[in-house]
Amino acid sequence: MKIAEGMPKTYYHYPRIVAIAGISLGREVNFIPLVWHTGLSFSPPLYGISISPKRYSYELVLKSGEFSVNFVEYKYRHIVERMGSVSGRDIDKAKLLGLNFKKGVKTNAPLLDISYIVHECELIEHYKLGDHTLFVGLVKATHYKEDYFDDKTMLKVESISPLLYLGRHVYITVDPESKSAEG
Ligand SMILES: Cc1cc2nc3c(=O)[nH]c(=O)nc-3n(C[C@H](O)[C@H](O)[C@H](O)COP(=O)(O)O)c2cc1C
Repeated sequence: MKIAEGMPKTYYHYPRIVAIAGISLGREVNFIPLVWHTGLSFSPPLYGISISPKRYSYELVLKSGEFSVNFVEYKYRHIVERMGSVSGRDIDKAKLLGLNFKKGVKTNAPLLDISYIVHECELIEHYKLGDHTLFVGLVKATHYKEDYFDDKTMLKVESISPLLYLGRHVYITVDPESKSAEG
């Protein structure tokens, strides 16, 4: 094994599943692709997203105090790539990418129509961690396409391909053939 000091700026610990955070402030709506995000707690239900202060979405999340976390299929990788290459500061991404969305039921955060699952979150904490900030959301509602989940609420990877990111503009999905139930 080769040893590098600290964590080199690489994608060694990828692939990671892509999420799209949606934020709405007044009449403005923005979407940002993220790979640095995670579930944090079941009770209360908490979900964390990590955003650099350089992003326009950073100030929108802080000001609105709400965000949605949307998951989309592999087939939408081109949209995600474009979404991550422009800023809501300069352009209306929903218009640019022809995205349809609706307002949440518990928050004003925008929910993307193309998502197979979305968490609606209320911002309860944020922590500056190095060059990113971890925004912690209390999940107020989860919307999901029932057909895409089995009765144990597990994603049916035989019918749907989740979108994963490998780094350096490369996307990948899972191989359902590799699925293996142990124990
Ligand atoms: C697949 C992918 C994953 C990304 N993950 C993150 C992330 O976890 N955190 C982050 O701050 N930026 C991340 N980015 C970069 C932002 O999405 C990108 O800078 C975006 O254009 C910012 O938009 P905004 O200025 O409208 O907020 C990612 C980009 C892509 C394409």
